[in-house]
Amino acid sequence: MQIHPPSLSPNRMYHLMIQSVVPRPIAWILSDNGDDSLNLAPFSYFNAVCSDPPVFMVSIGRKADGGDKDTARNLVERKHCVVHIPHREMAVDVSETSRPLPFGESELARQGLATVPFGDFPLPRLQDARVAFACTLHSTQELGKQLLVFLQVQSVWLDDAITSTDDKGRIHVDAQALDPLGRLGGDDYSFSGGSITVPRPW
Ligand SMILES: Cc1cc2nc3c(=O)[nH]c(=O)nc-3n(C[C@H](O)[C@H](O)[C@H](O)COP(=O)(O)O)c2cc1C
Repeated sequence: MQIHPPSLSPNRMYHLMIQSVVPRPIAWILSDNGDDSLNLAPFSYFNAVCSDPPVFMVSIGRKADGGDKDTARNLVERKHCVVHIPHREMAVDVSETSRPLPFGESELARQGLATVPFGDFPLPRLQDARVAFACTLHSTQELGKQLLVFLQVQSVWLDDAITSTDDKGRIHVDAQALDPLGRLGGDDYSFSGGSITVPRPW
């Protein structure tokens, strides 16, 4: 089957994209509502796009009524957030935190998710996440109806249970122990089903 994108409605193209670009990493983003409450939502149009400076990109769409999603609004207004990499046991909470709640109503309180301080960063991190990145807003770019948000990593937190350091001082993160949740199409998620090592040919 060969498909010419203009022949599909945006909705059908969206469904094709999310079923075929798989699995996608998930950024579980904690942001600041500005009223002492915290917002939490998952985004899978997400990836690391630069290491120097360390930058992620997240593509945020619009609410059904055309307004800004709370995460986009919080990032543009307050310019900081914490990106978590959720693991398998967090799948239900990840899905639940994608509910459109009224602005200011916290998904953390609703799901009973605990947070702990993230060093001297103004926002906390999720206590049970194995990887968390304290980020500041680098820049934004509009693309179609999406807002591309570039986030610069200011601090990284890794659970000691998934991390080791070799004799050259290089940090190793055990992907099997991290067991990150991946996003597939529809309501489906993937998790780590094993890995293979393919030595570089050069
Ligand atoms: C696993 C998963 C991945 C998602 N990825 C995205 C995404 O990349 N971009 C987006 O705009 N919405 C995405 N959503 C939907 C948002 O999470 C949802 O619109 C949420 O209500 C936004 O919350 P907020 O208004 O508090 O920011 C995703 C939902 C799920 C469950």
